[in-house]
Amino acid sequence: MTSATSPTAYNYKVVRQFAIMTVIWGIVGMGVGVLIASQLVWPELNLGLPWTSFGRLRPLHTNAVIFAFGGCALFATSYYVVQRTSQARLISDGLAAFTFWGWQAVIVLAAITLPLGYTSSKEYAELEWPIDILITLVWVSYAIVFFGTVVKRKVKHVYVGNWFFGGFILTVALLHLVNNMELPVGMFKSYSIYAGATDAMIQWWYGHNAVGFFLTAGFLGMMYYFVPKQAGRPIYSYRLSIVHFWALITVYIWAGPHHLHYTALPDWAQSLGMAMSLILLAPSWGGMINGMMTLSGAWHK
Ligand code: HEM
Repeated sequence: MTSATSPTAYNYKVVRQFAIMTVIWGIVGMGVGVLIASQLVWPELNLGLPWTSFGRLRPLHTNAVIFAFGGCALFATSYYVVQRTSQARLISDGLAAFTFWGWQAVIVLAAITLPLGYTSSKEYAELEWPIDILITLVWVSYAIVFFGTVVKRKVKHVYVGNWFFGGFILTVALLHLVNNMELPVGMFKSYSIYAGATDAMIQWWYGHNAVGFFLTAGFLGMMYYFVPKQAGRPIYSYRLSIVHFWALITVYIWAGPHHLHYTALPDWAQSLGMAMSLILLAPSWGGMINGMMTLSGAWHK
């Protein structure tokens, strides 16, 4: 019999699998980054082939570093953090394993289809509709495993790191579903159901918040567990962490139009996006200040 706090009570297997793939996809994704950077200097490095051209490898790079490298890091750390701070094992080993193998399948399919030229042409959402459906299945399973584990926690409190991970999981689900509403016209081709400026607005609402929630909120979840842990001291201000969490998720979602300044997007929407981007400085600095002040005086750690 193992107690809830003994290491064997937790599912570390899926954490280890995702952690290993983080390193592997990091090397692959940044390797492709080095290749396309070199192509900007020596265009002939595309070897004159369509499959290795800059236009096809650039989305391979962005998808690989954000969703393969960053995504595996987020899966690994959120599964680790939610178990340890909830003192509970993941609610389902089988479903957790499905998220691992499903996510790797998405990455491999991306690595095959993007060089072949299959693309929905939406930045950071290039993958075609059959892969979008697989992503949805994996993401719903992820949400069930994560929130299910929070629900069965053995401590009353939900640690702030889990708030950030939870906000990231819910918002990415919404972004993915709304931006990838598309009409398939074949196995590997679909068209967005939105048109014109509306399509552009939905796309940059998605693109901007993919950075805000995938690369910011999720990684703040990581920071709130590992920085205090490593520094061996509590968070500088727990109150600030709660205030900037609500401020960040409330404001971030409005700033997307700043990707569409001086376009056909109505002026009021452009101005709103600009104003919200300025306001966003405050919650974004809140997280930065909390991390820096937690480390202040413990930099050697
Ligand atoms: C060895 C490391 C890396 C190299 C050499 C590299 C190289 C590149 C190159 C050449 C581009 C295309 C620039 C252009 O179109 O003009 C690019 C774009 C991009 N990369 Fe990387 N990259 C690296 C690491 C990363 C990492 C770690 C991330 C994120 C986790 C990342 C995210 C992106 C994004 C989001 C873009 C699109 C930027 C935009 O359109 O403004 N890259 N990268």
